[in-house]
Amino acid sequence: MHQFLPYAWFGGRCVPFAEATISVATHALHYGTGAFGGMRALPNPSDPGEILLFRADRHARRLSQSARLLLTELAEETIMEGIVQILRANRPTTPVYLRPFVYTSDLGIAPRLHDIETDFLIYGIELGDYLSPDGVSCRISSWTRQEDRSLPLRGKISGAYITSSLAKTEAVKSGFDEALLLNSRGKVSEASGMNLFIVRDGVLITPGVDQDILEGITRASVLEIAQAMGIPTLERPVDKTELFVADEVFLSGTAARVTPVRRVENTDMPSQRPVMGAIRDRLTAITEGRDPAYDHWVTRVRLDG
Ligand SMILES: Cc1ncc(COP(=O)(O)O)c(C=O)c1O
Repeated sequence: MHQFLPYAWFGGRCVPFAEATISVATHALHYGTGAFGGMRALPNPSDPGEILLFRADRHARRLSQSARLLLTELAEETIMEGIVQILRANRPTTPVYLRPFVYTSDLGIAPRLHDIETDFLIYGIELGDYLSPDGVSCRISSWTRQEDRSLPLRGKISGAYITSSLAKTEAVKSGFDEALLLNSRGKVSEASGMNLFIVRDGVLITPGVDQDILEGITRASVLEIAQAMGIPTLERPVDKTELFVADEVFLSGTAARVTPVRRVENTDMPSQRPVMGAIRDRLTAITEGRDPAYDHWVTRVRLDG
């Protein structure tokens, strides 16, 4: 059973979750013309009056950019206002995942992005571990990651997630936990909802932003943390065979955090993951507000503000 936060942000105000409903004729429902964000909100363990958000400014900026890719405007301030209001209305005491969503709210048919109403909502859901922190098995998907020339991949466009859904279900139905998608050039792109890293000879490598990836906020943070820790990093195309000879393979994302890959297809990965372990520990400390050097990555929302 999903545990939703009692109040959602809908029509510019907080309303009971059950009242935040849309029509069956909503344009975005039929055409996938929405874009969403996803951020974790963590009650501060040492201050019950405060909620911690990891890189909320980046999340707001990406969603605002996603809206622009759908030819509509959604200001970062509008997103943050809704986030703060929904947190104050709900006062969560356990970690939650906030899902802001901008979408074409007109009723009726015809795929288009001009002459159309859009709306913005946010709801919250309790979310523990999205993937097992002990590691996942990955199948290389028979589905290909879309190309930026056919779909704006820098935004989290809802319609794009049909490929993620097909790939994820294909992986699970064939006995794996997660899917790794190659792009149309045959290079490794990302997982169904996470970016991918490999470690080879002490170098942390991840597909670059020209490899049809979503520009993940966790991915950018992992790269920055690694560099600060003196770990060499490379953003470059990754071949499929590199997955089988890598010293470490792991995934990154807001929902998945940092998740090790235990097996790719029939190949078991080494069980020692020193690079991933160090980065994961650091990232956990940062998101929990315990790392003063990265306090600027944490937005502290006062519940009584
Ligand atoms: C397709 C896809 N790739 C990667 C990511 C990871 O991005 P982030 O670290 O910003 O959550 C996500 C999740 O948001 C995603 O949906």
